[in-house]
Amino acid sequence: MNPFSYGTIVRGDFFYDRKEEGERIVSTLTNGNNMVLFAPRRYGKTSLVFRVIEELEERGYTCVYMDFLPVYSIETFVSLYISAIEKKQNNLQRLVQIITNVVKSIRPKLTFDSSGNPEFGIDLTESTVSIQTLSEVLDLPEKLALSGKKTIVIFDEFQEITKLNKFGFESLLRSKIQQQQQVNYLFLGSRTHLLNDMFNNKNRAFYNSASHMQLGPLPHDDTVAYLQEKFSQSGIDIELQVALYLIELSGDIPYYIQLLAAEIWQYIITSQTSVTRELVDICAERIVELKKDYYFELFDHQSVMQKQLLKALMQSGDNIFSAPYTRRFRLSAASTTQKSVLALMDSGIIDKTNSSYFISDPFFKRFIRNYAL
Ligand SMILES: Nc1ncnc2c1ncn2[C@@H]1O[C@H](COP(=O)(O)OP(=O)(O)OP(=O)(O)O)[C@@H](O)[C@H]1O
Ligand SMILES: [Mg+2]
Repeated sequence: MNPFSYGTIVRGDFFYDRKEEGERIVSTLTNGNNMVLFAPRRYGKTSLVFRVIEELEERGYTCVYMDFLPVYSIETFVSLYISAIEKKQNNLQRLVQIITNVVKSIRPKLTFDSSGNPEFGIDLTESTVSIQTLSEVLDLPEKLALSGKKTIVIFDEFQEITKLNKFGFESLLRSKIQQQQQVNYLFLGSRTHLLNDMFNNKNRAFYNSASHMQLGPLPHDDTVAYLQEKFSQSGIDIELQVALYLIELSGDIPYYIQLLAAEIWQYIITSQTSVTRELVDICAERIVELKKDYYFELFDHQSVMQKQLLKALMQSGDNIFSAPYTRRFRLSAASTTQKSVLALMDSGIIDKTNSSYFISDPFFKRFIRNYAL
């Protein structure tokens, strides 16, 4: 079995490092504060948070995890949130009772399947959820926690809440968070510019409401040690310099490191006992080839200015709005660049750390180098 895993939440033996980050999150939350965790896509936020959840649960906290990605309306929010809450309740009778008391327009029901296992469900009596109902649903974690364990609510991809401006959802949630004594919140998200604006803009409801933490790449020495150990379990050597090269080609992004390592392992497992630089290149090319059709379409979809900017970003992502940058890469004007940046960020094609912009997928970058320059 391939010892490298990517594309899903990694746990147990597949998860390394992030010890300090995990401890900081746990201590912030258990000290009664809220936290927002920023990182570009595929840096390992969700995996880290699942680690944190294990730790918190060991300490007796109830952790409600909810992903905002599938939420497209207030109604989907309500049903997904109640189901996330329900997953963590061991006393379903009590849950039914509390929902009945707290949320007037929802009828919870408990049925039993043929083996006698209880099944929980809800009936929404409103066709569109009212502000009153939304407000009552947001009260649930606090009401459930009152007589028992403290609760941590985790909202993944939290920037997606901006899609739900109806009812001033953001302000409503913020006011609930302020009132609640038994519940703390951990927000995470990958669209860093959206999330940043939510928490750093004075005019937004969540301004100054949580302690910030930025997740960076994994430290190189730990990654090298991890790669060496995993390869060696299959009798394969990888030297320091080659491992560093693998990390470099992966854009130093945890997901792509595992993807490339998995491809290499697959490629050589039956034939070779050491990973060379050439092999790393061959496998990086294989990944580009595998995704070529998708990349062609993606690139094709971009406007002329966006394509121009992508090509410029191949060289440099610093000071991209400056006159020298505009001149050097023959971009038309800073205002046009601004528009292209917003569009590319919105579709997740580029991202930003500190003040530097980069193409999020290092293999898409390689594709552009191969085919579009
Ligand atoms: N600490 C880690 N140890 C090992 N692999 C990791 C680690 N963190 C991330 N990865 C790799 O990155 C992949 C993505 O991780 P995860 O889904 O947790 O990231 P994410 O930041 O939540 O991503 P997304 O932006 O897609 O939601 C994992 O499948 C794994 O291959
Ligand atoms: Mg995630």
